[in-house]
Parts: sequence; C-alpha cells; structure tokens
Amino acid sequence: MTEIRTIGIANGGGDAPGLNGVIRAAVKTAIGRFGWRVVGICNGFDGLIWPEKCMLLDRQAVRGILPRGGTILGTTNRGNPFAYKRSESGRETTTDFSALCLENFHRMELDALVVIGGDGTLGIARDFARHGISLAGVPKTIDNDLSATEVTFGFDTALHVATEAIDRLQTTAESHHRVMLIEVMGRDTGWIALHSGIAGGADVILIPEIPFRFEAVCDAVRKAEERGKAFSLIVVAEGVPLPAKDPFGKAVPPGGPGNAANAIAFTLREMLQKEIRVTVLGHVQRGGSPSPFDRILATRFGVAAVELLSRGEFGRMVCLRAGKIESEPLEQALASRKFVDPQGELVRTARSVGVTFGDEAA
Ligand code: F6P
Repeated sequence: MTEIRTIGIANGGGDAPGLNGVIRAAVKTAIGRFGWRVVGICNGFDGLIWPEKCMLLDRQAVRGILPRGGTILGTTNRGNPFAYKRSESGRETTTDFSALCLENFHRMELDALVVIGGDGTLGIARDFARHGISLAGVPKTIDNDLSATEVTFGFDTALHVATEAIDRLQTTAESHHRVMLIEVMGRDTGWIALHSGIAGGADVILIPEIPFRFEAVCDAVRKAEERGKAFSLIVVAEGVPLPAKDPFGKAVPPGGPGNAANAIAFTLREMLQKEIRVTVLGHVQRGGSPSPFDRILATRFGVAAVELLSRGEFGRMVCLRAGKIESEPLEQALASRKFVDPQGELVRTARSVGVTFGDEAA
C-alpha cells in the first residue's frame, strides 16, 4: 500500500458554501490524526499544471475558515487538464496537460489527493485515478444533482437563500397584487426550485423535469384570483425548457440560466395583462456563510475522505446515505445524475397543497 506522507487538496467547478469546511476538516484530520503534510492545490487542477501557487496547508492556514464562504484555494469551472482549452490570438487551442500534472504531482512529493467537486471535477479525478493517482472524492454542488449521495454540501445554504428571497418577494407581491417570478439555479435539475418553492409556499414551480404549458400557469394565477388571492409567486428553475411558441403562435424568447424567468414573464405579461416582476437570484445562492447543516456535512465529508486515504481505499467518493457517511467507487458514483422524479413524493406533496407545475390538463 502507498505510504502516505503528503496529500494535496484540490477543489474545482463553481464554489459552494462549505468548501472551506471540507478543507479545514481534511487538513486537521490529516495533520492531527495521521501526521501527514498537506498541500493546497490552487484554482482547480490549474494548480497541478502551474504548481507555483500551491500552498502549504497547516493548522494556521485553516484557522477560522469554517464559517467563510467561497474557497481559500480559489477555483475555476474551466481547465480540464486532459483537454485544456485556451484562446490564443483569437484561436481556440486544446492541450492535454495530464502528463505534466502527473509529473508535478510526483515533483511535489504528493502521495494522494482529496478532490472536492461536482460531476465535472470528480470526472477529472476519476481519470487521474485511472492513471494511477491515489485519491478520494468529495461531492460538492449547490445543485444537489449527484445520485450517489442523498445531499451535497452547499445545497442547504442555497436553499436557505432562495427560500428567504421567496419570503421577501411574497410581502411585496401581496402589497402590489403582482405576479412575481423568481429564477433560481440548479443547472438542468429542479432541486433548488422544488425545495425552495415548497418551503416558500410558491403557487407555481417550473422545473426542467416537468415540461410546462403557459396556459396551465395562467390558469393557476387566474384561479388564485378567483379565490381572492390577487398575487402569485412563480419559482422558475434556470434550466427549465421553454415551449418554442406562445399560445398566440409567436416565438418565445430564448431561456437558459439568467434568462429563463424573463422569457417566461414576457409571454405571461401578454397573456395575463397583469403587473409582473422578475428576480433572478443568481450567484447570491452560492455566496456567503454556509448553513450549520452544510458546515457539519462538509466536516463529516472532509474527515471521511482522509480516512478513506488512510485505509488505502482509493478512487472512491464519500457520500451521505440514510444519514450515514459511506463511500462508493467514483466510476459508479458518476454513472448517473439525480433528477427530480415527476411522480415522486415531493412533487405529489407539492401538488397536494395546490402547487401548479404547468403540466396540468386544461
Ligand atoms: O453548478 C453550480 C451552478 O451554480 C449552477 O447552478 C449554475 O448553472 C452554474 O453553476 C453557474 O456557473 P457560473 O459560476 O459559471 O456562472
């Protein structure tokens, strides 16, 4: 078995509240329990290509970072060392830096890595594991879309931010008798929208997993009015696919992250002839201090990842199942993503309390 003296910690992809908690827990466990040296790999895998910026992570380096958002290592959601894209004099080039990374890994006298990331970063980690690097993965994303773990750290904090925003929109929507749309993140999954929509008491939740019709959304708003509720809250997942045409046969403006709620509002204004306002929540969902749940999960994951390395259980990802920390081979863990089940209990619960998903029959 590889004798470990020094480990590296790398994180990649979009940041998520709790990253610093994982780093801190891994460093404290590696130093305190196993007597290892720890090196921080900066800015995703860029730090293995250009190791000058790598830093020693001692106890001092991780002091006080548990409540801090972001990551002390910096990150990037570009920079796959196996196919590194750059633009040189207006031309896009792709370079394979993986051999250089392996060389630098040994030059830095690293024996193993803890890699923290979503499916992109952990996919790169899996490829390095195939090239013989001893490593452990930690699942991270506010989107909560990794099937091997019940929950990723970062999701709970994002959910708190989104729910608070919906609560705040509710009071102003009610005062002005308006329809309010709020767009939340989640890539091509609807977890943040579904959870925050239920928690915030939304009237309509539009998610990528349930294709919607504009007529069904308008019906929900009108029926609420008939019941004497003159305002509506519509939570839109950024990745929701939009119908190509509106009910008048006109093209719907392009959606996608940052544009989905505005594109939907454009059509709803015409159909409802009501005052409609849009809030695109964006990156505030990822910023700021992690929730207590995320701090604890991050700490448990960080400790568990180092323990995996100490037992020589390489190429695995830590995960949470039925409240317990377990692990699964990265190859399997990355085989499928987690999507909202349109027939699942959460969607049925939401429908039962009157939430419209936009797929209801006329
Ligand atoms: O995957 C996390 C996430 O925040 C998604 O919810 C969102 O679509 C994306 O990252 C945004 O990425 P960027 O930081 O590149 O805008």
